[in-house]
Amino acid sequence: MAYVNDNYLKLKAGYLFPEIGRRVSKFAKENPQAKVIRMGIGDVTEPLPAACISAMHAAVDEMARRESFRGYGPEQGFDFLREAIARHDFQSRGAQIQADEIFVSDGSKCDTGNILDILGKSNVIAVTDPVYPVYVDTNVMAGHTGEADAGGRYAGLVYLPMTEANQFVPALPEQKVDIVYLCSPNNPTGMAASRSALEKWVDYARKNEAIIFFDAAYEAFITEADVPHSIYEIEGARECAIEFRSFSKTAGFTGTRCAFTVVPKGLTARTSTGENVELHGLWNRRHTTKFNGVSYIVQRGAEAVYTPEGQSQVRQLVEFYLENARLMCAGLKQAGLTVYGGVNAPYVWLKTPNGLSSWDFFDQLLSKAHLVGTPGSGFGASGEGYFRLSAFNSRANVLEAIERVNKFVQG
Ligand code: MLT
Repeated sequence: MAYVNDNYLKLKAGYLFPEIGRRVSKFAKENPQAKVIRMGIGDVTEPLPAACISAMHAAVDEMARRESFRGYGPEQGFDFLREAIARHDFQSRGAQIQADEIFVSDGSKCDTGNILDILGKSNVIAVTDPVYPVYVDTNVMAGHTGEADAGGRYAGLVYLPMTEANQFVPALPEQKVDIVYLCSPNNPTGMAASRSALEKWVDYARKNEAIIFFDAAYEAFITEADVPHSIYEIEGARECAIEFRSFSKTAGFTGTRCAFTVVPKGLTARTSTGENVELHGLWNRRHTTKFNGVSYIVQRGAEAVYTPEGQSQVRQLVEFYLENARLMCAGLKQAGLTVYGGVNAPYVWLKTPNGLSSWDFFDQLLSKAHLVGTPGSGFGASGEGYFRLSAFNSRANVLEAIERVNKFVQG
């Protein structure tokens, strides 16, 4: 008889988005005439930038000819893409990241989970609350936690609440932690960390020999000057941070799949016998053993994001969604709701009206307004009483959704 990984049995219910999908499918089946607007999962709606499309078409043509055909590529990504990323996303902002510190992958979701492969089991791990559920669930799967309590908090994790009371800025942990996950601009709250907030985290990490897992998947949505686009804009971050980035939200690649993780050389963690080992080498070993690289065609598409046409097309795409977010914030405020986020992020985080629980609000909004969002409690206990709406949608749907929420709130 084979044995299962018992840790999986500790996981609470299903992963959040499949659970939402299940409820929405049930509703749609029972109400086939309802025109449901989906603002739950943050999935893009607009087509890929033209520059990416033509680069991918050209790459397909290369694959069609024996002399330019390619089989396996380098697992870490082609140099043309790694170099473009290093130059545009980091060096242009004064962050000294080199191409060989960039590992191209098929998604930040996978990378934030897979990174645990190279770290030990005895780390004290801190997450914000609310939090992108993948950080927590992958730690549960890896056996880094005990059981969950009634509120969904797992024993062994350190939770850093982010609520209205602290304006969604998590306090530094009171105890010493070894790993902390930060996401800025934040999923789910849509709020972003200022330079001074990130300086405090880098300072904490260096003093405590901790590592920051910095998820910057939404950096393209930053509009405010005081919000760093990369943790490596902060002095000293190379010694203490791994950064996750994605083309999913920047360039509409959620279905195309391309992302990257930055592991700076010189960033170390300790062995059980007390020696310091570079994580770059371990991640390289993991990546080349368990992953065969992103397709050449997709990497050519991602490279095109950095051409002048690509940059302006991506900017237009991001601005389109940001305008959706702006309209949503204004419209929901007008409806009398308390609203956060939406300025540096494609997510709007609202307080549920009349003290409704997050899931009750979800169910009522679905049944009465035929609108789907994400219950805040699905992101953690401190998300209870909040609700996330994604700005990834057509303009027509956004305007209609605002109207529907208005009607719903007016009762
Ligand atoms: C979300 O809605 O939180 C994101 O789309 C999930 C993801 O990027 O994996």
